[in-house]
Amino acid sequence: MRKKSIFILAVFLFVAPLAAQAPNLDERVEALLRRMTLEEKLGQLIQYTPSQPDIRALAAKGSVGCVFNYGSAAQTNALQRAAVEESRLKIPLLFAHDVIHGYRTIFPIPLGIASTWDTSAAELAARISAREASASGVRWTFAPMVDIARDPRWGRVAEGAGEDPFLGSAMAAAYVRGFQGDSFLACAKHFAGYGAAEAGRDYNSVDMSERTLRQVYLPPFKAAVDAGVSTIMTGFDSLNAVPATANEHLLKEILRGEWAFRGFVDSDYHAVGQLIDHGVAATPQEAALKAITAGVDMDMFDGTYLTLAAAVRDGHLSESVIDTSVGRVLRAKFDLGLFERPYADEQREKTVLFAKEHVDAARRIAQESIVLLKNEGALLPLSKNAGTIAVIGPLADSKADMLGSWYALGKPEEAITVLEGVRAKAGPQTQVAYAKGDDIAPAVSTAGKSDVVLLILGEEGKMTGEASSRAFLDLPGKQQQLLEAIVATKKPVVLVVMSGRPLTISWAAANVPAIVWPWFPGSQAGHAIADVLFGDVNPSGKLPITVPRSVGQIPIYYAHLPTGRPEDPAIKYTSKYIDSPNDPLYPFGYGRSYTRFEYSDLRISGGDSFTVSADVRNAGQRAGDEIVQLYVRDLVASISRPVKELKGFRRITLGAGEKRRVEFTITRNDLQFWSDHGWTVEPGTFKVWIGPSSVEGLEGTFEVK
Ligand code: NOJ
Repeated sequence: MRKKSIFILAVFLFVAPLAAQAPNLDERVEALLRRMTLEEKLGQLIQYTPSQPDIRALAAKGSVGCVFNYGSAAQTNALQRAAVEESRLKIPLLFAHDVIHGYRTIFPIPLGIASTWDTSAAELAARISAREASASGVRWTFAPMVDIARDPRWGRVAEGAGEDPFLGSAMAAAYVRGFQGDSFLACAKHFAGYGAAEAGRDYNSVDMSERTLRQVYLPPFKAAVDAGVSTIMTGFDSLNAVPATANEHLLKEILRGEWAFRGFVDSDYHAVGQLIDHGVAATPQEAALKAITAGVDMDMFDGTYLTLAAAVRDGHLSESVIDTSVGRVLRAKFDLGLFERPYADEQREKTVLFAKEHVDAARRIAQESIVLLKNEGALLPLSKNAGTIAVIGPLADSKADMLGSWYALGKPEEAITVLEGVRAKAGPQTQVAYAKGDDIAPAVSTAGKSDVVLLILGEEGKMTGEASSRAFLDLPGKQQQLLEAIVATKKPVVLVVMSGRPLTISWAAANVPAIVWPWFPGSQAGHAIADVLFGDVNPSGKLPITVPRSVGQIPIYYAHLPTGRPEDPAIKYTSKYIDSPNDPLYPFGYGRSYTRFEYSDLRISGGDSFTVSADVRNAGQRAGDEIVQLYVRDLVASISRPVKELKGFRRITLGAGEKRRVEFTITRNDLQFWSDHGWTVEPGTFKVWIGPSSVEGLEGTFEVK
């Protein structure tokens, strides 16, 4: 007791006065700002790639504040030395990188991680990615991409969490927590609306109501801000005719005003200069003025902000606007501890990148991300002693394609292909035969000599991601012919579809008995896929995005509005196609398991907030994970409300025969919509469902007073 009081006294006497004297962050920022020339200030707002001519000299002059997409600790340290040892004010560089789904250890693409519906998986992937990137001196990632995407023609569907704002918000917050756990900055992008590009064509313009913006596209950004995200990147899009990079409504009114965001805003690559192409600025200086006054603090890539020096000198811009932006950037650098620890530890880098525990986590997360769409006659799981297994298809043994799009420092040679995974898992008596399938005839002959065929089809990794919009979503090239030829052999076929987006595989859905969708699972792809195919892991992923039957159905998403003329096949003048069903090939939230889950006994209670619960029982023979989903519908309101909206989900593990009550709380916030007067909840009856997907479940109602 006595010792304790002496200790407290000592802390009070010695540490407290020191703390009082130590300048706080604001004071440090202010003090540094006061010493900076206008050019040095602008340097902090400029971001270049290492390919910028004379990048070292620019760093040594303090003319660049951030460098992105640079490689190793040795490289970042060398450039950092120029900034820290040679520049007048010794302000360290901030190194950024597109660490989208891993740095060296590659996790499933974000759409795959969303298929886990496991926020702890997203958080862990982000934490490991940040740890690896930091080991190379990178302290900022341009992730997570939190754009809602309801058009799979858009290639960047791969980089997000899919079509739903509730799932998207949960994932956004998880990534931010994971990335920012230890002196690392995340960046929620692309603010805002970028995922709604007209016709699914990347960089295209976006036109949507304020209501759709608020209800669907902004919630994941709000969730990221609430989780403390340090930076936001603006989109390439123009939103309702105002480019996102010069959009005061988005940046000033909503982000800074309503949400009180305190970090800094970055433009996308050359997006400031592109305000000229958007037709809202005639010169680079006008573009820069528009962007900075709208609230874009940092200019990525092209140095358009350098024109602001003359704008200040000519009286077109107050230097205080620049000071505000520079202050935000410096604050982030102080906060990261960059001034105290500007360098990466080159020895540590060697042990951190691709560490065994990271690779193990990548395999576990990949296992959870795999979606089983069809399993007729319980063809899966395969026996490890299955005679001869034919592994066929252009993606079966292609290392780079396992990693999908944009895999930072991931090394294709470190990725496990499906063929390798199957070979590693199959029993000693099993023959594994392989055909790439470029030539159909030999592939058919390989299939004909086998007992079961694993057909690995889909997109090459580079067909997805940025600038990879597609007008057709069929299996690419000759893959459909290959598929039909293999199915014609009458051998049992398991189709494994790798892709960065939903593909229109209606023929396969009708003609192939088993379909597994692993997206692009990352470094451990082949092992994770084999774990599922042979039943060491029971598949549990569920679709975070609707799979359409055809491109003609797009945009198609489960949370659509009702129409005045709902589909009725018997009545001509109802909302439908004359040449296609309305419903998708596979709905949002859908995914099967090797076991069976039964739902029963829905209970609802409450008045202000509601508790909704149901029993979920594993009625099959093996343990499995189920993703239990909660949906609501506001039946009558002053505006039309979606036919269903996800408002809760939980991944649970149940042993064979085990039953558990799963309980959700619905608060008033979950029931609000954007009215002409802001967020509101109207009294009335709401429907509620608890079930395994957006189209099945137990149904009840509750009354909001
Ligand atoms: C353009 C992309 O839109 C953005 O997401 C990315 O972070 C930057 N390029 C930097 O590579």
